[in-house]
Amino acid sequence: MPNRYLIANWKMNLPPEGVDAYLDGVAAVRDDRARRVIAPPFPYLTGVARGLSKRGADIATGAQNCSEQEKGAFTGEVSTAMLHDCGARFTLIGHSERRTLFAENDALVARKLSAAIGSRLVPVLCVGEDLRVREAGHVQRHVADQLKTAVSDALDDAPEIVVAYEPIWAIGTGRNATGAMVADVVGSIRESLGRFWPSRFVKDAAVLYGGSVTPDNIADLVAEGDIDGFLVGGASLDSVKFNAILNRM
Ligand code: 13P
Repeated sequence: MPNRYLIANWKMNLPPEGVDAYLDGVAAVRDDRARRVIAPPFPYLTGVARGLSKRGADIATGAQNCSEQEKGAFTGEVSTAMLHDCGARFTLIGHSERRTLFAENDALVARKLSAAIGSRLVPVLCVGEDLRVREAGHVQRHVADQLKTAVSDALDDAPEIVVAYEPIWAIGTGRNATGAMVADVVGSIRESLGRFWPSRFVKDAAVLYGGSVTPDNIADLVAEGDIDGFLVGGASLDSVKFNAILNRM
């Protein structure tokens, strides 16, 4: 399998076509140009993981978030070990909606990253700037800070890490970044990985783009973005669109 990814983040949504029809739709495509991951809301993890395996699909399941705690009195939280039990092999960490709507800071993100690695989940660390940071010309510094503060000793044991560059102003807005803009930030992400992270990640970490990705706007990102795949929200809820994105990668 190549070190390329297509990840569906359903957020707090279900596919309008229904979960079974969706799984039929994505499982019908046998295509190994990218590793596919579906990240449904927590209660659907087991069903999605089983449904994919029953259909013989080589598609993994991921969580959208995890607790940094191992167990105990943390009402409403879900541990990384529980996610693994439910079939998840990946987890998003530090999605901008977690950071902005649920006040997750860099220190918490670092603890979650370490917990995920400890439970053998592949972390998909999300980074990206808001419009204010972009307009002030501080994108590279902002993303470098997010990567630097996420570092922990756990990274030494991580077989695999995925980084997703998701500019906040492009998420759910229909306004996606251009390939050139993305390539610029991806270059600085790789530079920061080299400065702050175990050096093997400079080349081994897959770097994805997310933010208003659709089958119709990825050509420029594929050609110019210098990325290893996509993290898709809205368009990933439709199996036909998800398949079309894969087909154009
Ligand atoms: P949209 O594709 O809906 O803009 O969402 C992107 C995203 O946040 C994926 O994690």
